[in-house]
Amino acid sequence: MKRALVPGTFDPITAGHLDVITRASQLVDEIIVGVAASPKKSPLFSLEERVALAREATKALPNVRVEPFDCLLVVFAEEIGANIVVKGLRAITDFEYEFQMTALNYQLNQAIETIFIMSPPQYMYLSSSIVREIACLHGDMDGFVPECVRAALEAKFA
Ligand code: PNS
Repeated sequence: MKRALVPGTFDPITAGHLDVITRASQLVDEIIVGVAASPKKSPLFSLEERVALAREATKALPNVRVEPFDCLLVVFAEEIGANIVVKGLRAITDFEYEFQMTALNYQLNQAIETIFIMSPPQYMYLSSSIVREIACLHGDMDGFVPECVRAALEAKFA
């Protein structure tokens, strides 16, 4: 059984994340979406809220599970028996950071392979932080986030 981990802070999950998760779910038997606690990022949504939103957003994908984690990525991947990590790659600005993370993770555990799925043009510049900013300024989030996230953001910034 091929199991892959799609990690992120998902604060909150966006349509871009969902695109990567959906495409990855067609390549392997099972996807675990790992929601990192990421306390240093002071997330807008609590870990429980981010997990609940990711579960709601992915509920139509039968081979996708969502789990929180609060440890090293490679340790979590080992715990859940995933030897593939899938990450989305957007504009070139992502590359340096992802390059560093992938190299470090490879040094920590060479049995775990990181692969990248490129964002389609419409999600190339979409990020959770942009979505939070649009929501904060009461902008239109249509097409940027799943419906459950739109409702949660509206409630946060009401
Ligand atoms: O969505 P993000 O915030 O870009 O995701 C970053 C994430 C959660 C994948 C990254 O911060 C991570 O792997 N965190 C877990 C802790 C860890 O392993 N850090 C060292 C990586 S070398």
